[in-house]
Amino acid sequence: MSIVEIKSSATTLVDVEDNSTESLSDKLNVLLANYSIFHQNVRGYHWNLRGANFFELHEKFEKLYERLYTKMDEIAERILTIGYQADHNFSTYISESLIDEKINVSDGIVASKDILSSLKVLITLQKDILYYADELGDEGTYHLMSDAIKEQEKLVWMYSAYLGK
Ligand SMILES: [Fe+2]
Repeated sequence: MSIVEIKSSATTLVDVEDNSTESLSDKLNVLLANYSIFHQNVRGYHWNLRGANFFELHEKFEKLYERLYTKMDEIAERILTIGYQADHNFSTYISESLIDEKINVSDGIVASKDILSSLKVLITLQKDILYYADELGDEGTYHLMSDAIKEQEKLVWMYSAYLGK
């Protein structure tokens, strides 16, 4: 096997000949866009928060954006691993994200409600990708989605409990 063949087979982890992996990378890039906007929203909540629950939520929001940042990197590197490029520019993120930018939110309850709905968006997108990856036999992407869904479902429970929902 030549070096070119080895390189080619190493980047074609999902063994299909049609455009399924391209569709998968498109879905992952849309997911990445949603993470990026959400991550930046949570940074804003962490910074601009005011009120009686400041100390509690300021710290919780920091932990959340750190987890989102870690996951973003894993998603981007998964896109590279299956042979495509990861979007990295905010103009693309804004146009592709279902989660909107949130500006100057200082109320912890408003921020927590938005976090809850944004987590649900991520979970929905990730379930769609998980089923698609399963069809393609792409275990790496499947498990990446599965781990994220499990972690975020727990956060949905916790933020719902905090909000009394
Ligand atoms: Fe900080």
